[in-house]
Amino acid sequence: MAEHVLDRPPEGAAADWTIPQDWAAYSAQAHATWDLLFRRQSAQLPGRAAEAFLRGLDVLRLSKPGIPDFEELSDRLAKLTGWRVVAVPGLVPDAVFFDHLANRRFVAGNFIRRPDQLDYLEEPDVFHDVFGHVPLLADPVFADYMQAYGEGGLRSLSFGALHKLARLYWYTVEFGLVREAGGLRLFGAGIVSSHGESRFALEDDSPNRIGFDLERVMRTRYRIDDYQQSYFVIDSFEDLLRQTVETDFAPLYARLEGASDHDPADLLPGDAVITRGTQAHARGRAGR
Ligand code: PHE
Ligand code: FE
Repeated sequence: MAEHVLDRPPEGAAADWTIPQDWAAYSAQAHATWDLLFRRQSAQLPGRAAEAFLRGLDVLRLSKPGIPDFEELSDRLAKLTGWRVVAVPGLVPDAVFFDHLANRRFVAGNFIRRPDQLDYLEEPDVFHDVFGHVPLLADPVFADYMQAYGEGGLRSLSFGALHKLARLYWYTVEFGLVREAGGLRLFGAGIVSSHGESRFALEDDSPNRIGFDLERVMRTRYRIDDYQQSYFVIDSFEDLLRQTVETDFAPLYARLEGASDHDPADLLPGDAVITRGTQAHARGRAGR
């Protein structure tokens, strides 16, 4: 999610903050890091990730060795859903981020993590952004959701409600689960691009897994420093799109202004609880 870091594009960036990916400048080591991360994740995602995600990896030919060339990738993606991938130097201002999404441009960092950061990094790199996010942009329904989210993001700014809408992004686009094939599957980019969390989110006893509820999600804080304590489960991408597009968020924002927030680990009386988590993971960390 975007954050205010600078208020105008850095030296060398365009007015919309994009920069050339400069694919030719990646070192052999950078490509090797991508290949290693790709191999690890593609081995554990079949049967765990949503079929639409796996299909996206395939139709976009993301298994081709090396960091993808954004132009080539975008040409393939644009034929399917009209989306393109553009490079940015790092985090961009919220309005810039939303405007790109509203115009079916996904902004991706062009740098890749260092070999000592394979399992953890604070800023999204090209592996998180491209491997994590881009496959689902090849799915027509999810592609529409992301565009609608961008439009909704611009609108949220005029209500001062960005932090509420950001939670929707967090608990769907980044950390969402979906009911599929008689069980749960991963679709959030933050999970599918994480070696540890892609098992934790589905198989660990610690986290809660709760049926998705729009207002509930908008009231729930999230943690950025560790695995999630609760995951929200959508019924389908169609259902997520329908619910969010058909709801006018303005009255929701107004109502939520006076409402209290929930902690990431809370279970509430109205929750459709799928798994009640032990929270052992979070408790173990707190004790260190
Ligand atoms: N319906 C939302 C609004 O009225 C816009 C939106 C659509 C937000 C899809 C997120 C996802 O603001
Ligand atoms: Fe992300």
